[in-house]
Amino acid sequence: MSLYLAIEGVDGAGKSTVCRALADALAAEGRVVRVVREPGGTEVGEQIRQILLHGEDMTPWAEALLFAAQRAQLAAEVIGPALERGEVVISDRSYYSSLAYQGGARGLGIEAVRTVNELALGGVIPDLVVVLWTDPETALARQNVIDRIGGEGAQFQREVAAVYEKVAAENPDRVVLVDASRPVDEVVAQIMELIR
Ligand code: TYD
Repeated sequence: MSLYLAIEGVDGAGKSTVCRALADALAAEGRVVRVVREPGGTEVGEQIRQILLHGEDMTPWAEALLFAAQRAQLAAEVIGPALERGEVVISDRSYYSSLAYQGGARGLGIEAVRTVNELALGGVIPDLVVVLWTDPETALARQNVIDRIGGEGAQFQREVAAVYEKVAAENPDRVVLVDASRPVDEVVAQIMELIR
């Protein structure tokens, strides 16, 4: 059975490490696993990633729409087809990042950003969203690559975290906060349990 799992969290929460470990755990159970990351994951998406993370400053809506654009491409080109083949897709970020960063921290409004993304994605949305939960300050301190958005500072990250908390409280069946201050294998074990 196909599964689209998104891993979310503030900058430095440890998403990429958890994605890799989770992919190994699922592959060990015989699942075909595809790991993708946002922004990026397609030719067009990687070009948009450059603009978003290493380019000039832009307006909040320009930023939100570029995130949605790379995501539409990834959904159509990679995620949708993989799900149709019955694979497991693990995504390092998803449109929930846009709800938190652009909708919340940039102030565009969660519902406005949700509407744009749902239009762009044609129904290819995560079945389960795991938010790696860590204190934003601790997470920021262990961030290794600081990009245009990840460099916005602690208050910005607190606003991002607040949206994740709100969205999880409103959709407990789909969005789950997982304490990521523990060792990776414990975090992965809890996510495997959630998948089951
Ligand atoms: P990412 O490559 O996941 O960085 P990190 O591994 O450091 O978390 O994401 C890059 C940045 O882009 C990160 O600061 C979060 C931001 N972002 C948004 O603002 N909106 C989005 O929709 C996505 C996918 C990412």
